[in-house]
Amino acid sequence: MSFDDVVELAKRRGFFWPSFMIYGGSSGFYDYGPLGTLLKDNIINLWKKEYAREGAVFLDTPVISPADVFRASGHLEKFSDIAVKCPKCGTPYKLESLLKGLGITEIAKTVEEASAILEKYDVKCPKCGERLKNPYDFNLMFRIGTNDLYLRPETAQGIFINFKNIYNYARNSMPIIVCQVGKGFRNEISPRQALIRMREFSQAEVEVFYLNGDDFPVPDSYADLSLLRNTGELQKMKVSDALRSGIIGNRVMAYFLNKTYDILLKLGFKQDRIRAREHDPGERAHYSSETWDFEYLLDGDWIEIVGVSDRGTYDLGRHQQFSGENLQIDGKTPKVIEPSYGVDRILLTIMDSSYYKRDNGYKVLRLEPHIAPVHLAVFPLQKKDNLDRIARDLFDRIKAVDPFIFYDDGGNIGRRYARQDEIGTPYCVTVDYQSKEDGTVTIRERDSTSQVRISMDELIERTKYFPDSFTELFKQ
Ligand code: ATP
Ligand code: GLY
Repeated sequence: MSFDDVVELAKRRGFFWPSFMIYGGSSGFYDYGPLGTLLKDNIINLWKKEYAREGAVFLDTPVISPADVFRASGHLEKFSDIAVKCPKCGTPYKLESLLKGLGITEIAKTVEEASAILEKYDVKCPKCGERLKNPYDFNLMFRIGTNDLYLRPETAQGIFINFKNIYNYARNSMPIIVCQVGKGFRNEISPRQALIRMREFSQAEVEVFYLNGDDFPVPDSYADLSLLRNTGELQKMKVSDALRSGIIGNRVMAYFLNKTYDILLKLGFKQDRIRAREHDPGERAHYSSETWDFEYLLDGDWIEIVGVSDRGTYDLGRHQQFSGENLQIDGKTPKVIEPSYGVDRILLTIMDSSYYKRDNGYKVLRLEPHIAPVHLAVFPLQKKDNLDRIARDLFDRIKAVDPFIFYDDGGNIGRRYARQDEIGTPYCVTVDYQSKEDGTVTIRERDSTSQVRISMDELIERTKYFPDSFTELFKQ
């Protein structure tokens, strides 16, 4: 199971681990360690750049909101999962996950339907074997103390309620793409699979406000996106063809499905472990009229990493109704397409997707160089004969250009390469006896393990243009 290996590696090498461990831990919370923090930043920065290229603007709004916001958005009333608690051992289950784990494909939209499914399949507690009954609705919102305040379950509402401010900022031009990265909080019934289901997690959300879908071009799209329709049909096709044949509802949805696929590929996901799955009408969130989840194949299970929803005029309409503010433009309520990225799920699945074992059993994270937490490692071949002093000097020179580098002089050189491979460092620089003679060093590339020799001056120059200048070096 690569998932277990990745979680073990993540903890041992400083990517992430369960929070509050010295007090016994608390389910659904994770800390990012030194390398995970950098990897997370790199993922977010790539996403940010990609949306900035689309002309997006960025916001940063509070994680705590008055209840009014979530009354209007419908979350107080409708943001719930169906749960069932074992009457014997007390284990709580999210019904959807429980049924999925048992291979039951029926979806319950109401507590009554859930009750009928539990009875029909004679569902028993996976822990103690007791029959499960009496499912109930469980609202996922975290309320703060006795105040009428809530932790946000999505960053999106902070964007919707600022629509007019952003519209003014954009000098009344449409469409507008607004992005926000931040924490979301959900009182998940059964947090699990490390970063996959947490109670506090990071989202990178995009709200695309538009009046006229024709403002977006039909995307020039990839030929091989796997689309799984809610009819059960699975097709590899271009997003543009799916739009033309009516599989995808509208042009803006098509444009941002293609954009999301593009970002996932740039992050390093492989086509064959990614698909876009259309929600069943009964499965969609209360605000959505069409949803496609990008899913990643994790140990045989498809896991949602990005949800792309057509929220139509739902949110602006509700906020206008509840606040009394006019949120229309020339009498029209803008429509919204929302790609919502789960940063933690992306981080974990990109680690899983890049993980492999060499024939000698050594573990490697084949992270794309542009998201790797450490760009270069510098080693002296030996800790003697002045090699260490030369390596230290070189390290300091590189650090002035790119500080995301690492120095290691412990143990033999093979072990040092292995330590860097395991954390995804794409290039290792070694100062050896020849360096003393002619000022050259070797650079070893992680995946091929091949080496080239260049001068230290050239190395410094190339570091300025990391990673392309290094990729080039190994293409020659
Ligand atoms: P699921 O069906 O797995 O509960 P969801 O449909 O509730 O997910 P969305 O509401 O679409 O998820 O949230 C948008 C994104 O936020 C998801 O694609 C996911 O990556 C991330 N996300 C949602 N809930 C969690 C969570 N509890 N822990 C970590 N990430 C989450
Ligand atoms: N904003 C989408 C979600 O969090 O559900």
